[in-house]
Amino acid sequence: MAKEALPVAGAPRSRKHFQRVLALIICAVLAQIVLLSFSRDKGVDVRASRAEILSKCANIHLPAGPPPSFKTSSRTITGSDRWVPGTQPTLLQNAKIWTGARSGTEVVYGDVLLDKGVIIAVGYIPPSLIAKAKASGELRVQDVGGKWITPGLVDLHSHIGVYSSPALSGASDGNSRKNPILPWLRSIDGLNTHDDSYELAMAGGVTTAQILPGSANNMGGQSFVIKLRPTAERSATSKVIEPPLTLTHSSNGTDYIRWRHMKHACGENPDRLYGQTRMDGQWNFRHAYDEARKIRDAQDAFCAKAEAGAWNVLEGQYPEDLQWESLVDVLRGRVKLSIHCYEAVDLDGIVRLSNEFKFPVASFHHAGETYLVPDLLKKTWGGAPAIALFASNFKKKREAYRSSEFAPRVLAEHGIPVVMKSDHPVVNSRYLLFEAQQAHYYGLNPALALASVTSVPAKAAGLGHRVGTIEEGYDADVVIWDSHPLALGATPVQVYVDGIAQLTKPFPLDKPASFQVLPEVPNFDKEKNETVKWEGVPPLTNRKVSGRVQITGVKSLIGFDEMSPEGALEVIFDDADTDLVYPDGRTVVIEDGKIVCIQRAVDDCTSAVGAQFDEVIDLRGGGIAPGLTTYGAPIGLVEIRLEPSTNDGPVFDPLTNGDPPALIAQAGIISAVDGLAFEGRNALLAYRSGVTTGITAPSGSSFLQGISAAFRVGAPHALAKGAIVQRATAVHISVSMALRVSVSTQIAALRSLLFWDDEDFVRDDAKTWATVREGSAPLVVSVESADIMSTLLALKADYEAKTGSTLRLTFSGASEAHLLADEIAAAGVSVILTLSRPYPATWEQRRILPGPPLSKESALVTLTNAGVNVAIGVTDESYARNTRFELAWAALEANGTISKSETLALATTNLHKALGLERPLFSIPDLVLYQGGGVLDFASKPVGVIAAEAGLVEIF
Ligand SMILES: *[C@@H]1O[C@H](CO)[C@@H](O)[C@H](O)[C@H]1NC(C)=O
Ligand SMILES: *[C@@H]1O[C@H](CO)[C@@H](O)[C@H](O)[C@H]1NC(C)=O
Ligand SMILES: *[C@@H]1O[C@H](CO)[C@@H](O)[C@H](O)[C@H]1NC(C)=O
Repeated sequence: MAKEALPVAGAPRSRKHFQRVLALIICAVLAQIVLLSFSRDKGVDVRASRAEILSKCANIHLPAGPPPSFKTSSRTITGSDRWVPGTQPTLLQNAKIWTGARSGTEVVYGDVLLDKGVIIAVGYIPPSLIAKAKASGELRVQDVGGKWITPGLVDLHSHIGVYSSPALSGASDGNSRKNPILPWLRSIDGLNTHDDSYELAMAGGVTTAQILPGSANNMGGQSFVIKLRPTAERSATSKVIEPPLTLTHSSNGTDYIRWRHMKHACGENPDRLYGQTRMDGQWNFRHAYDEARKIRDAQDAFCAKAEAGAWNVLEGQYPEDLQWESLVDVLRGRVKLSIHCYEAVDLDGIVRLSNEFKFPVASFHHAGETYLVPDLLKKTWGGAPAIALFASNFKKKREAYRSSEFAPRVLAEHGIPVVMKSDHPVVNSRYLLFEAQQAHYYGLNPALALASVTSVPAKAAGLGHRVGTIEEGYDADVVIWDSHPLALGATPVQVYVDGIAQLTKPFPLDKPASFQVLPEVPNFDKEKNETVKWEGVPPLTNRKVSGRVQITGVKSLIGFDEMSPEGALEVIFDDADTDLVYPDGRTVVIEDGKIVCIQRAVDDCTSAVGAQFDEVIDLRGGGIAPGLTTYGAPIGLVEIRLEPSTNDGPVFDPLTNGDPPALIAQAGIISAVDGLAFEGRNALLAYRSGVTTGITAPSGSSFLQGISAAFRVGAPHALAKGAIVQRATAVHISVSMALRVSVSTQIAALRSLLFWDDEDFVRDDAKTWATVREGSAPLVVSVESADIMSTLLALKADYEAKTGSTLRLTFSGASEAHLLADEIAAAGVSVILTLSRPYPATWEQRRILPGPPLSKESALVTLTNAGVNVAIGVTDESYARNTRFELAWAALEANGTISKSETLALATTNLHKALGLERPLFSIPDLVLYQGGGVLDFASKPVGVIAAEAGLVEIF
């Protein structure tokens, strides 16, 4: 136990003696006073304290949550406790309402009436209710024109406000590092009410979030569930939904015991921080629960005597301890526990713990291996918890290595509730729905996919009686979407929280009609089975077919114009869905990896090439498109980011290491090509997702990075034919406020490297800088701040004026580039947006252009309209495989202003130009086969690559 009286040592005997005598006298006097007062009104006092004890004892046996008599519908009369008087009542007409009821299968066509902070009615609204609502204020009527409405999204795992954006050390309050066991801490005490993310997350439809402490402790503290909207009081507490009495100590909330919330974490995060092992972590849990159990048992024994009226044998005070009271409440089943836990070994430990101490677990989070141990989960005391997952943010650490995109589906097949969560800012909470969309893409049933971000997390947080569902009496938290919510890129048109519209001037997008229906998704039965069979690491080897391959059912073919020196994209054919000439798509024949025939009207290629094939692939109305290129994350250099032994490692940086002469010596020598490792899982999964080329710069956060290389992400090793596409593509540096030396120092170093007299370059490898200075190799600067970009543009102009050479400059990252769109365009600088769905993670990224619905244009649109060569990258190795979804998203945000081939150019030709990848004359780039849909659709699945250079077709 943490509290123990320390003996006071060494006071001289005579003084001690005097103190004792004095104490005795004081005691005697006090006893006299007590006796006197007792003789006057002894009965009243004893009765009062007995009543207090009995009320405490009655309380501890009450369950948390609304009682069975609780009726949500009665809230249509009382209104919400969160109602802000003066809020306009709102009638949303003509909607497709996904209510979340009937296990997520119910869709109601009709209207929704919001008043007094609650949903008054859904579907057909009787005029009497409308008349009644008008009493609250002028009725706002919005005809939503048949659009989809869902409940406001519930993010079960968020660090909004405790890991804020922009991240500043003064507002990083998510974790105390003082002890692995801290159940007495409370996330709400660290909640920054000025986090930029509240507004951004609401712009993605998120209305409620559980704010968890971080995972650096086994018990990081209590969590709180908040509404993201601003409140008039502007306080942290006023955001909390159903705040427990232990937080507010107010007379409100005495109707029933409110659920409390707490975070636990096992595995690597708490273990590594304290230099502890998994064994220590488990003991920490057991020891803490043992303390709580002792107090709980003492309370029960005390209360048993009090309740039996055995006051004469009752000794001492009611047993309680402020440090352990929350954990005692866990044992009493009144806390919704969220446990961060990845691996089978850790899950097993918690399941044993829950049975040893008999407490339920509300949810396991991250939970990468839960899909491998469904039967174990069912052994949790009180039943299987909900499992809160990422869709594709995997493999960053060892314990996440076996995480799978098929986990949501597998768990659902075992009847285990699935939650998709953000872990904001790990995944930007604004895109929580994208997590559910991906889960659906990989096979989670659509009703469960929507429930995974609404009703299921609401229930897991103990708030299923008021949020996460559209039903009479529920909180008036609803989102109007511009498409079917599971369609890629679904974006809110308006978001209501407690009946209050949160988007003051929304910019709605115009989505194609095909986006208004549930997207069709591919069949992944085989991949799912293989994933389970191989415990998350199925072999990713491809079948190679040379000879003649017939590809049928092709609706579109986009290739490269071989005659164009830049290798411009060329739409060879793109038949509409309604095409009458080729209703089932055309036939394309490949021979030794090269297209030899494309079906034209009558000739299905048999007259040209015969009817003998080594392989026939039916794309079922799918398409063929150029292989994409990934850039931004150090794919090929990093396998498990947090395991140094799996990575190339950070480059040596002479600038921040304080060795300027070495700066020059080293300037040309670090080449990513020398550190490339092949057959990493992120690379192979990217390959199977249509990404055939990687361009990677040496990794590490330093000023000087080195020379990037282009390689085939599906190659077996560096010496394989065609594995290295281009040994040196560009020279990379970063200029950032986050480095250890000043930005001005970094600019001074760059100026030296550019202007240094040739004779000072004594080593051959300095030739690299010569290529930059001559303008033959691009200089790619990782830079986020518009101010730094301005300085770089001025430096470029100065350099060019003084030397007469051209500096080929590219900005990478470039969160604030839209602020200088015209200047960047005028200077001929390329921009690679590595976070095309932007997020103000740091101060130098804070001035993002958020895109619809918060701004009319996205940064991509502003830059494109200004005439800048723009490309798209990714920030995380595991996201390389999502490149085509990022492209689709960017195109949707462009609201129809960029064509399909312009979209593909963002991760092919534009990117190559920005990074200095030159296609060898007459070479034919890889083409990817998409079954069931096009490269930018959720309907499609990449099934193979036509590798012309290797002379074969690879089939996944
Ligand atoms: C209790 O809640 C009501 C509204 O639900 C509010 O008006 C009142 O100020 C609250 N009282 C306290 C003591 O918090
Ligand atoms: C998208 O296009 C539609 C139709 O032209 C227009 O009404 C809408 O304002 C546009 N939205 C944005 C965000 O550009
Ligand atoms: C996947 O596994 C299930 C259950 O074992 C089996 O019924 C099904 O046929 C398998 N499907 C494929 C495509 O392998």
